[in-house]
Amino acid sequence: MRVIAIDGPAGAGKSTVARQVSTATGLRYLDTGAMYRCVALAVQQSSTDAHDAEAVGKIAREVSVVIGRDVSMLNGIDVSTEIRSSEINGIVSIIAAHTPVRDAMREQQRSWIRDQQGGVVEGRDIGTVVFPEAILKVFLTASPEVRAERRVGQSGGDIQAVASSIAERDHLDSTRLDSPLKPSNDSVVVDSSNKTIEEVVAEIVAHFESVDHG
Ligand code: DC
Repeated sequence: MRVIAIDGPAGAGKSTVARQVSTATGLRYLDTGAMYRCVALAVQQSSTDAHDAEAVGKIAREVSVVIGRDVSMLNGIDVSTEIRSSEINGIVSIIAAHTPVRDAMREQQRSWIRDQQGGVVEGRDIGTVVFPEAILKVFLTASPEVRAERRVGQSGGDIQAVASSIAERDHLDSTRLDSPLKPSNDSVVVDSSNKTIEEVVAEIVAHFESVDHG
């Protein structure tokens, strides 16, 4: 299966890079973070306690989440903007740490990959847990300062507040027990701190071509 797994911390440029790699390779693109964000929004809308793993897991199993290239749908409604709010940033890593939530999302992610016969799949645990048989695994990272600056450049906000929100999410994502964020042993680590998007995309596409053509 032609799967390119792109994992890494918040603000490393995964979405932008993964989209362009998808265009360059012709493989479909899946943003798995948007799936967790949709569940977080359903949790917020139903005033459920984000720390209640069972209740949040039930929501994750019952909601309809459909992630397209540019649109994210929760129960048939376009929530692409709502899922990027600072409130959702504040709870998404809490709900994403619950095993019942991860079980439900992983099942959907694997069936998406099977249906599409491959893809460029972006997240935190794609190369390590969701699809360890991916033909290319990239761990995309950048220094905390650069990641905070990029987020402020994209969405505005106070640099200190953005930096501490990113640091808090990184901490929760990399210290949780179920599928923590970490590079897999066989991943290509790309530090984008001093590289342009075009350079990073070209590097990943070159790796893909060498493994794809054997
Ligand atoms: O990539 P993002 O910032 O949209 O992801 C939002 C959150 O979802 C992130 O803080 C951790 C979680 N996530 C995850 O646990 N596993 C994934 N495969 C993707 C995202």
